[in-house]
Parts: sequence; C-alpha cells; structure tokens
Amino acid sequence: MSDWEDATRCTPAAECSPPPLNTAPLAASPDAPDLYHVDPTNSPAKLAVAPSPPTTLSSAFKAWRFFSARADDDPDLDPSITTASPFPAAVDDHHRRQKTQKTPSIVAVHRPTLTFIHVFSVTFLILVLVAQLFLTDVKFQYSRIFTSHPFSRTVSSPPAFVLDDSVCESPQPFPTAPPVSRAPAMESPLVQETKRIVAQFDYTGTDVNNGVKEFLRQMNEGLQKDGTSMSQIPTYVTGVPNGTEKGLYLAVDLGGTNFRVCSIHLNGDTTFNLTYSKVAIPKELMVAKTAQELFAFLAKQIEQFLKTHHEDHFEAHIRRRNTISTPDGFRDEHIFRLGFTFSFPVQQFGINKGTLIRWTKGFDIPDAVGKDVCALLQQEIDLLHLPVKVAALVNDTVGTLMARSYTSPGKTSTLLGAIFGTGTNGAYVEKVVNIQKSVDGEYDKSTGDMVINTEWGSFDNQLNVLPNTSYDIELDKKSVNPGIQMFEKRVSGMFLGEIVRLVLVDMVKNPNIALFKDDNSSTNDWRSTTNIGSGSSLHKQWGLDSSLMSIAVADNTPEHSTLRMQLEKELQVDSASFEDTQAFKEISYAVGRRAARLAAVALGATVLQSGKLSEASDEPIDIGVDGSLVEHYPFFRDMIYEALAAIDGIGPAGAQRIRIGIAKDGSGVGAALIALVAAGMEKKGPVDYLNAVRNNAAQKLAGVLPTVGETTTLS
Ligand code: GLC
Repeated sequence: MSDWEDATRCTPAAECSPPPLNTAPLAASPDAPDLYHVDPTNSPAKLAVAPSPPTTLSSAFKAWRFFSARADDDPDLDPSITTASPFPAAVDDHHRRQKTQKTPSIVAVHRPTLTFIHVFSVTFLILVLVAQLFLTDVKFQYSRIFTSHPFSRTVSSPPAFVLDDSVCESPQPFPTAPPVSRAPAMESPLVQETKRIVAQFDYTGTDVNNGVKEFLRQMNEGLQKDGTSMSQIPTYVTGVPNGTEKGLYLAVDLGGTNFRVCSIHLNGDTTFNLTYSKVAIPKELMVAKTAQELFAFLAKQIEQFLKTHHEDHFEAHIRRRNTISTPDGFRDEHIFRLGFTFSFPVQQFGINKGTLIRWTKGFDIPDAVGKDVCALLQQEIDLLHLPVKVAALVNDTVGTLMARSYTSPGKTSTLLGAIFGTGTNGAYVEKVVNIQKSVDGEYDKSTGDMVINTEWGSFDNQLNVLPNTSYDIELDKKSVNPGIQMFEKRVSGMFLGEIVRLVLVDMVKNPNIALFKDDNSSTNDWRSTTNIGSGSSLHKQWGLDSSLMSIAVADNTPEHSTLRMQLEKELQVDSASFEDTQAFKEISYAVGRRAARLAAVALGATVLQSGKLSEASDEPIDIGVDGSLVEHYPFFRDMIYEALAAIDGIGPAGAQRIRIGIAKDGSGVGAALIALVAAGMEKKGPVDYLNAVRNNAAQKLAGVLPTVGETTTLS
C-alpha cells in the first residue's frame, strides 16, 4: 500500500466524522511545524494571510481565491508557508501528523478550503433557488442567451402558452378546425410582387356585368348568322329526356387526351349501367397530316371493346355476316346504334352529320377540317365490318345536358350543360324562333325548342371585354391557334396551368425577388436552400398541370406539406420555402378565381337569355356541369355563385334559384340518349334502316365503298 493510499483512507468512523465547528477566532498555530510556518520576512507574493471564515459572499469569494491560488496557481509558492487552519486544533494535529508522515502537501493544503467551497456553494444555491422562485421568466431569457450562440445546436422553442384552464376540455387528438397558414412576418419583395401580380387577375363585379352584356350580344349575333366568334351551332336535338328512356347503346368520346368507348344500358327509371374502356390518344395522331390514321385507331378501339364486353353479340354478327346473301341475315336490331361524342366545333347538318369547323385543345389535323366527322368514323368502322352505326353526333356539352336531364332530381328539365375541364363550352335549350340563321335538314319541329351548342370557348376573340394580362398575351402568341378560343384560354384547365407557369417563370427570372431561390439557408424555413432541377418542366411550355393549382389552393396544412411534395414530384422544386409555397398558392388562387368569375359570365348570360328568371315560378333553373376544373378546383362552384349574385338581373335571389349540379358521364349517357332520339327519328324516316344496311352491304359486295365526306346511311 502506498503512502498516498494510506493517507487518504478513511479508517475508524470516529476519526473521520467531522468535528464540531470551532467558533473561536482562527490564528496561526505557534507550534506549527516547518511545513506550516509563516515567515513574515518572505516576499509579499509569498506572504499569505489566512482569511477569516467567510461571513459574506465577498469574503467567501476571497477565501476561495486564496486557497485556489495557494494550492494550484502559484508554482512559486513556498510549501513552508502555512495558514491558520479553520479546523479545531485536534483535527489540525491529526493533519499535521499526516503531513509529517510524508502525506502529499496538496491534501493538507486543500482540506481546509472544502469548507469554504461548501459554504459558498450552499449560499449560492440558496440564492439561485430564491431567484428562480420569484423570477420565473428569467429562465427563458437565459436559455435564449445560450441558444442564440451561433454554434449552438440547440434550437430555442418559443415559450409555451399557459392555458388558464389546466384541464384539457377537448380530448381530440387532431384539430377540428382547418389550420390557417402563417402570414409572412414582413412584406418581402416576393410578397409585394405576388400582390402586384395577383391584382392583375382581379375580375370585379363591374367586369362581370360588362362581360355578361357582351356575352348576350355575341350569343344573339351567333343566332343570326354564321361566321361569328360564338358559333351558336344548332344540334338538331329538339328536346331533353325525362328519365324514362330505355335501351342498350354504344357511345364513343373523342375530345381531349383520351378516347373512351362505352356501352350504356338506360334502365328507364333515371338510372343506367355503364361499361367503358379508356385509352390515351397517341400524340402523333393528334397532330398528324391526315385524319385517316386517327379514325382507324378509333374504329380499332371499338372493335376491341365489342370483342371484350359484347363477345356474344360480336360472334353472332360474324356468323350472320357470312350468310349475307340471305336477306334475313341482317336484322336491324342486331346493329348497335352509336352516339359519337366529338368535342370540337362542328357545323351540324343533321343529327349524325357535321363538318369540322376547326380543331381545338391541341389537336391539329388540317386534312379533317371541313369534312363530315361521322362519315370519317363510319368508313373505318365499315372497313372492320363492325355491327355499328354512327347514329348521332354529339358535343360533350350536349351530352352533359342530356345526362343531367335524364338523371336530375325532380321534374325540372335542364336548361344548360357546361364543361369546365380541359376545354370549356356550353349547350342550352333555345327557342327555335330565336334562331334566325337557316337550319337545314330534318328535325322535330313540334317542341319549338332546339339545343344550341354555343362554342363559347371562342367568346370575345376580338377582346372587347375579356381581361388581357401580359401572361394571357404570351400564352396566346405561343399557342397553335393564336387569336382563337380566347375565352377558353382564360377559363379552362388546359390553359390555367400554363398561365401560372408563365407567371412563375417571370418571377424566377426576376433578380429582385427570391422565388424558389434563397440567399442562404437561414431565409428558408426548412434550413436549406431551394433548388430547381435542371430537367424541371417549369421551363417547358405546358409544363405545369392545372391539377397542381387545385392541390396548392386546397393545401391549408401549416407547412404546405402536400404542395411541397407535389412541387418536388412534378416540377423538381426541392425545399421550397413557406414564402415560395404561399406565393404559389396565391397566384393559383387568383388565376382560378378569375376563371370561375368568367365562367359565371357565361352561365349568367345563358340564364338571362332563356328568360326563365322572369317566368312566375319558383322552380329551380337547372344546370349540369362536368369537367376536372369544376370537380376538383376548390370552391369553383362557390366562386361562380358569388359572381352570379353580382349580376344585374340575377342578384342574390336569382342566384339562389340557379341549381348547378355535377353531371358525370355526359359523353356516355348523353350520347346514348341522343342515339336513342336518332333511332326514333329513323323509324319515322322515309327509308327504314334495314333497307339502308342492305343497300350498304350490296354496295360493299360490289366493291363500291363509300367515299369520305359522304354518309353511308339514309335518314
Ligand atoms: C372545346 C371544344 C368544344 C368542347 C369543349 C369542351 O372548347 O371546341 O366543342 O365542347 O372544348 O370539351
């Protein structure tokens, strides 16, 4: 065992227990051995005077300094210098004995200092506790001081709110009210620029009323003559269904990015069953030189659908076709009547005849313009020997109107069918007397009504009243049809995303504002810097899908987390800041709101044109709508209603009478209903369809195929 171990070991309990505190004044021991001897003749630095026991904080501090310096700080300190011990003599004696037994001097010197440290520490602790008791907020201030150090890894959290009520009344784990986005603390240049741009998309009540007046003027102009900006196309549909119609029909729908084939069973009780298949239209067919490839593709899809969903019918047809020499081989009821929903402007000449006026929505096949689209499709169907007759040509808006009328609640017939999707358009029931331009061909005159396809996408191509920001101008200039579909370019889903994209590109290029870029990570609430991927579609035409606007407007999470995720996925914008997403939201909202208020111009003007509000009735005025925008853009319908109430001649009371309801599957159900109307007209017609098919078959056998642009049927 070493001397050190020996000296520090605590052996008998009595020896180690602290002696009673000596209250007598302390003095240097006269018989202290050399080790403890104070030599007053020594240099001042070595002259250490023992402090008296600490009675105040300052004297305690002095004592602490003294003993620290004595033991550790001064290497020159003479070990012979001693101090008066604060311990009683007996203990001192014990210490001295230990010292003389070669105990390291540090032990002997330090032993007395412990008492001062203890006293000092206890006093200090008491003071701190007392301070904490009275100054509760100081704690937070201290934590801020420490955490504000630039290298501190601790993030200070704000002080918790103290609830008056200590009992939690609501055990709800999630908030029941939607969270409200944080407003930026200061108006940064980005916030200011966002406000400036948002203001450009304002469409006031006065604007709405001016729009309605001009819309009514252009509607009536279109009823008087051809070649006006709003085509006001008579559809040869002279009534709307009432829900009792029955039968099995085929329908196909060409009008956007997809082609849909459906068979619809109308049950006659306002319900239906619908089977369909959908396929994306290859881009190269949308902008081909000739229409033949596109229509051959469509016919192929119909064949595929029949084989898959109506195999029995299809097989039976093949068998009958092989016995074509027998007149009984053909039976009229074995032929599917098909409603062809073709959602482009078509000049109709009959219920299943119409020539294409122009392509819209990104299609561009010059060779099809001016041709009968029903004949183009029938020709390709016949080449595949399918048991299908194109019985009706239908615009999607007319289909929507029919579908809504078939399914709508109550006895009210529907006034208007409208689409707010990739494109926008409306079809409404007009009095035949108001149609002053000539309507050639057969139609049922008994109702006094005819459905008009307005083609309102081209309302105000001349920009008499439409708003026209620099972004609208740029979009139009770079489109495939500049100067055309000007209303559609401000209202429909195909274009809204592009407007927002053009705004964003402008802002990103602006060096004075920080959209999707940060000076450094401290300005980004994700403590990162925003990055736009090099392949981001933000910089490509049509690169921003309008569905992102709906996501942005709907995202009221405190961090805009859904929007951030989509920005990353769709536009390769990583770590967008809160200010970025807030700007994105506000711009999307402004562009969408302007679209909704413009939509109200079209709906409101059509209601006024019908004169229904001045009829003494409290029946609702029913409108069927369809399309991604009205279905998914948050509050699109509410914003329409808000603008309707501001229209002179409608007002809040009139707006309440207008019932806007979603009418899904107009392109299927509606087309089937018109095919049904067409079948009824065939029966009344001068030549029955069976004869037409026989003639057609005979022609085919003789190798005389119908030419494109002519119809293959008689009606
Ligand atoms: C375009 C077409 C129109 C169609 C609308 C909605 O505006 O020209 O016929 O109804 O899109 O699909």
